[in-house]
Amino acid sequence: MKNNVVRSPLFYVGDKYKIINEIKQYFPDEIHCFVEPFVGGGSVFMNVDATDFLLNDLDKNIIAIHQMLCESAVNPTIFYQKVDAVVKQYGLSCSYKEDIVPEELKREFVKTYYARFNKLGYEKMRSDYNQSKDRSTFILYMLLIYGFNRMIRFNKSGDFNLPVGNVDLNQNTIKALNDYFCLTEIKNPRWYNLDFEDFINQVTLTPDDLVYLAPPLFDNV
Ligand SMILES: C[S@@+](CC[C@H](N)C(=O)[O-])C[C@H]1O[C@@H](n2cnc3c(N)ncnc32)[C@H](O)[C@@H]1O
Repeated sequence: MKNNVVRSPLFYVGDKYKIINEIKQYFPDEIHCFVEPFVGGGSVFMNVDATDFLLNDLDKNIIAIHQMLCESAVNPTIFYQKVDAVVKQYGLSCSYKEDIVPEELKREFVKTYYARFNKLGYEKMRSDYNQSKDRSTFILYMLLIYGFNRMIRFNKSGDFNLPVGNVDLNQNTIKALNDYFCLTEIKNPRWYNLDFEDFINQVTLTPDDLVYLAPPLFDNV
């Protein structure tokens, strides 16, 4: 990876992965506690050294995915077994492991063959997720990975409603997941799901701590 920058496995829209080195120029050399009220996909905290990490986001699904991945970091083998089982159950492509997309489909749909191949399986996974009484954060993560632009979006009725994306679980995803597993085992972050003001109000800061703010640009925060 260029300049040792690692990418978050949430592939978050607006993530700071590409400009992390510019951002870090403004950080002190030593940080005791790194505090992020708008953590999003987490690509900033992943690339920062500190003793403690307090990470918050208002989006409960984002925090649930971070917590699920942190728990999976204890035993990534079990996580990847679950990935394999879901890929098999829904007949999804999984290019990190093997290329199962027929050459004919690739020739016919040169730029969209992943979306064509995964559409039915993805829609079944999405429908199972939406109908489930006890929705699985792991399946939400799989929807994110195989979904349009790797985003999370729910409609007014509370159903996940993004269409299939033209992506699959590839080597970049695996690298991002493995980096995340390694780093969170070391950093041991604490997660919060609060409005940023409530979060900041309950943190006791010292002069050695750093609060990094990356609020949404177009929302009324
Ligand atoms: C620009 S993104 C942060 C991107 C992040 N730095 C990254 O690299 O992935 C802004 C985040 O703020 C969160 N957010 C929006 N309003 C918020 C609020 N009132 N309190 C806390 N978080 C909020 C959004 O859910 C979103 O994840």
